[in-house]
Amino acid sequence: MQALEALTAAIERLPTVTWRGRIRAATGMTLEVDGLQRVLSVGDKCHAETVHGRRVLCEAVGFRHGRTLLMAFDSLDGVAEGCTVVTDDTANTLRPGPGWLGRVVDALGHPVDGKGPLRNGEHARPLRRPPPPACARRRMGPRIDTGIRVVDAFVPLCRGQRLGVFAASGVGKSTLLSMFARNAEADVIVIGLIGERGREVREFIQDDLGPEGLARSVVVVATSDEPPLMRRQAALLCMTVAEELRDRGLHVLCLMDSVTRFAMAQREIGLAAGEPPTGKSYPPSVFAELPRLLERAGPGPDTDGPRPPGDITAIFTVLVDGDDHDEPIADAVRGILDGHLVLDRRIAGQGRYPAVDVLRSVSRALPGCHSPAENDIAGRARASMATYDNMREMIRLGAYRRGSDPEVDAAMAVHPRLEAFLRQGKDDRLPAAATFAQLHTLLSVPGDRP
Ligand SMILES: Nc1ncnc2c1ncn2[C@@H]1O[C@H](COP(=O)(O)OP(=O)(O)OP(=O)(O)O)[C@@H](O)[C@H]1O
Ligand SMILES: [Mg+2]
Repeated sequence: MQALEALTAAIERLPTVTWRGRIRAATGMTLEVDGLQRVLSVGDKCHAETVHGRRVLCEAVGFRHGRTLLMAFDSLDGVAEGCTVVTDDTANTLRPGPGWLGRVVDALGHPVDGKGPLRNGEHARPLRRPPPPACARRRMGPRIDTGIRVVDAFVPLCRGQRLGVFAASGVGKSTLLSMFARNAEADVIVIGLIGERGREVREFIQDDLGPEGLARSVVVVATSDEPPLMRRQAALLCMTVAEELRDRGLHVLCLMDSVTRFAMAQREIGLAAGEPPTGKSYPPSVFAELPRLLERAGPGPDTDGPRPPGDITAIFTVLVDGDDHDEPIADAVRGILDGHLVLDRRIAGQGRYPAVDVLRSVSRALPGCHSPAENDIAGRARASMATYDNMREMIRLGAYRRGSDPEVDAAMAVHPRLEAFLRQGKDDRLPAAATFAQLHTLLSVPGDRP
């Protein structure tokens, strides 16, 4: 069996036929190539040779007037009319494996951490794969202890669940994601830092993950300055690594910051390939690519083999432009995922982090993943928050007279204690059982009497 696998791997590595074409035009970021008709299909890779002999990796993104349209993974400096384009059908697969743990790679699977060459897995994996068939997929597993009070109590995360973190810029998405990376239960973590600031990458790896966290993580990075193909492929590679580790029977926590940057990269690619813009200039391919990417996370397929099956639990951040939670990407992502955590700028402004708006956040794992007693405690806390929220303006203006409504009085008494409970430093961790005990105690303390 092993010999057969080695033989298959050797055959996969054999050089295949290469085809050559010529660059005829360049418009913005796209190249038009002649001579590769019926050879390159959309998504295939090739190399453009520059006048200085440099090879630039490109991908076919469309066709126009009998020519193939390419976009590049690198700068097009030195590419001239008449330059050669050579096909490369090995570039569409990578070999992630457990040897990638503790490493930081770019979208092409090259190490960028200066720790030498990567130890690749045995099998080549395509970057694009369909998700497991819906009927063969297991159901969501039990609740995961995330160590984050507001999440464990009100927006619980289950094994195989996909959760979105929705917020405007600077409200604490990346910080919350780093709390998940440090605290949540999982065998391994795959982190995709897609299109975010270069400065934050090092901070995230050194301060947020630390050496222990990094040892059980694979980090895939494409910063905002990289070409759109690199940013899009980083998200695809992140999911490919997660799938590889899942297929080895591991429980993978996949964290992606952010899906919006993936959508923006696809927007640049789609528009350059001539697609028509729709809402907020996003072309239709963005709305086709999003579910294709996000659906790959989730519970693994049922397996009969000796290995226990693995799952991908995923958390995706979504940048909500101008606090508009109905903008097209937020809307599309919300519809695909199994829950969303909404972060609110007003709450962050009051200095309460993580700035989760409990009343607007939903986990589709509820109520099944809590015990009846836990559902009761969380339900009472939510009801108290809703009552306070309804009366917030009246209370602030002094228009509410204590004693008029016992429910509002109770909510006012509990409010400061609930706010203190929801506040959590980014290095604090609390087991879920202790979270519920705290919440139960704070709801049971008799409030101020009018
Ligand atoms: N848990 C926290 N405790 C204290 N401060 C926090 C916390 N979370 C966020 N902040 C503050 O909010 C700032 C922005 O946080 P963060 O970078 O996580 O936001 P973001 O939503 O990822 O922003 P962007 O959309 O720009 O990437 C931080 O620099 C920090 O000052
Ligand atoms: Mg961020």
